[in-house]
Amino acid sequence: MYINKELHFGGVSLASLIKAKNYKTPFYLYDIEGMKNHLLNMKKTLGDRVSIHYAMKANSQKELLRNFSKLGVGVDTVSGGEIKRALSCGFQSHQIIFSGVGKSVEEIKLALRLGLHQINIESPQELVRVGELAKKIKTQARVAFRLNPDVDVQTHPYITTGFRENKFGMDFNTLPDLLEILKKYKNEVTCVGLTLHIGSQLMDLEALKEAIKKTLEVYKNLLGLGYRLETFDIGGGIGIKYKESELPPSLREYNQMINESFKDLDTQVIIEPGRYLVGPFGILVTQVEYIKKTSYKNFAIVNTGMHHLMRPSLYGAFHDIKPLLELEKEKELYDIVGPICESSDVLGRARYLPQIKQGDYLVVSDVGAYGYVMSNDYNLHAKPKEYLLSKN
Ligand code: LLP
Repeated sequence: MYINKELHFGGVSLASLIKAKNYKTPFYLYDIEGMKNHLLNMKKTLGDRVSIHYAMKANSQKELLRNFSKLGVGVDTVSGGEIKRALSCGFQSHQIIFSGVGKSVEEIKLALRLGLHQINIESPQELVRVGELAKKIKTQARVAFRLNPDVDVQTHPYITTGFRENKFGMDFNTLPDLLEILKKYKNEVTCVGLTLHIGSQLMDLEALKEAIKKTLEVYKNLLGLGYRLETFDIGGGIGIKYKESELPPSLREYNQMINESFKDLDTQVIIEPGRYLVGPFGILVTQVEYIKKTSYKNFAIVNTGMHHLMRPSLYGAFHDIKPLLELEKEKELYDIVGPICESSDVLGRARYLPQIKQGDYLVVSDVGAYGYVMSNDYNLHAKPKEYLLSKN
């Protein structure tokens, strides 16, 4: 938002902040208060029946995790590295869910020794591995079966996970096998629930509703068979508004969908939101190295790119890009590109911006989720810095 022609973020003028702190570009900046308020609002709206486990893969910045851990939520992890980071930032073992399609022996041992809240099982072989390791360590594992409800989700194909062609979850007809394995490890493994996650950046809730409905039938059958299930984990996936024209589901709609879906079942509903909680509260600030005009295009070559923010080149994702100052200059069309030796290193195509020049600052929006965490040092460029805005 521009106030007095200066772009503001988290209530602060970015131009003044950069000047005062002498920040060097490129850098990520997070509005921690915004993230915290968003989480608290979600918690309040969804009430006690819903247990929030923040999907830390979206943004695992330590100070952010420390802040979230103080707000009485749990965390969803997908690796030993994430489990260790969560613990070091204040989360307790019983607040941690361990998801992920390829858990190693070492990672499962770690989870078992810690006695995590729940290990989400992705294949019969994984269940056997968990059973064997629990036997060896002489402990009991709490597991949930991740089923693949085979629903078609309208989002980028790289981020759908609940369709039969995806590697995630298990076919419903794997269930007899899973129950056989459970029997074999009845002293080592307790199945506490079912889980699903159908994809990310969901723009409507219909597919999720259908997935829950399908999986609930299985859940009720298992209850009928005497399994003492306690949790139903519906994953994450709520979309956010990257473009003005987009209309993601509101929290009210999400709450309503949960209430309707679970109206006749008394179980703890777990959700694993990532992007929704942090996405809108991060920006990436960069500067123009060169303006290069060809007979076809204007390129603004900036000092960040696909190595720092992969989403545009990997998924063709849109992120708004704005100048730091609202200048009343004539507008021109630019491709905003990075320094990486790949033609896919584009942050924004055909952006209509007031004439920009060498040294100008540009701000890439909505990068609080899947931004820094997916960055790398390709071409041996340094990773960007991360700064946090907080009350203090
Ligand atoms: N739970 C599970 C099991 C997941 O696999 C994911 C995301 C989440 C929760 C959190 O989903 P969210 O609420 O953030 O949509 N890099 C991609 C997104 C990958 C999502 C992977 N799984 C992107 O930049 O769009």
